[in-house]
Amino acid sequence: MIQLSHIHKEYKLDGDVFVALKDINLKINDGDFTAIVGPSGCGKSTLMHIIGLLDNPSSGTITISGKDVSKLSDDDLSKLRNEFVGFVFQQFNLINKLTVAENILLPTIYARKDLGFDPKTRAMELMKRFEIDSKAKSYPNKLSGGQQQRVAIARALINKPKLILADEPTGNLDSKTGEKILSLLKELNGHDKITIVMVTHDNHIAERAKTHIHVLDGEIVDD
Ligand SMILES: Nc1ncnc2c1ncn2[C@@H]1O[C@H](COP(=O)(O)OP(=O)(O)O)[C@@H](O)[C@H]1O
Ligand SMILES: [Mg+2]
Repeated sequence: MIQLSHIHKEYKLDGDVFVALKDINLKINDGDFTAIVGPSGCGKSTLMHIIGLLDNPSSGTITISGKDVSKLSDDDLSKLRNEFVGFVFQQFNLINKLTVAENILLPTIYARKDLGFDPKTRAMELMKRFEIDSKAKSYPNKLSGGQQQRVAIARALINKPKLILADEPTGNLDSKTGEKILSLLKELNGHDKITIVMVTHDNHIAERAKTHIHVLDGEIVDD
């Protein structure tokens, strides 16, 4: 599904060059539930942003379903990102000025017109499934952390992505609530057949994934 070859990422800071990722080679197959694991600052989020087409590598290639994404126009790239990937973040990244339902519907605005489903009906189904339908008209800052993350997951799913990228999805939750979010991700992988890549610094959480990619100082290391 996704292949990264010789990915290198550097940041330039006041003339200094900081190498965040070095010669990353990895493959994510359809149906995987992979954890990207490593200590804080090792490059996990940078890697996730590159996999999710939110950021460009300094060099190296990314292919999705056999297509080199560097060959795509900006428009096609945004479309692919919007419809192929759903993102879940540690801080939920919901928009507090929009209601729960409006947050969930937001990605459909940027998608192509013929998504093949009615956005509002799908949003309601997702809210029911994740038991946040009673909060449809509430604002995110009135919700608990677990509820906010379920809204974020519904938003990630609205365009029927093949892949969910989750960056420390339980990082702001107590362990019991975090456990529920992990079970939900497992269900999306097992039942809905969505490929999941989850970033975490926590080995205990990483254990819930089927496969693991260990990162240290910007490089993939063996287990
Ligand atoms: N936009 C940026 N500019 C400069 N340095 C960055 C930027 N983003 C990340 N970094 C640096 O790259 C390294 C990896 O960051 P990150 O991918 O966020 O790590 P992790 O998610 O594993 O904690 C860190 O040292 C961080 O300071
Ligand atoms: Mg990070």
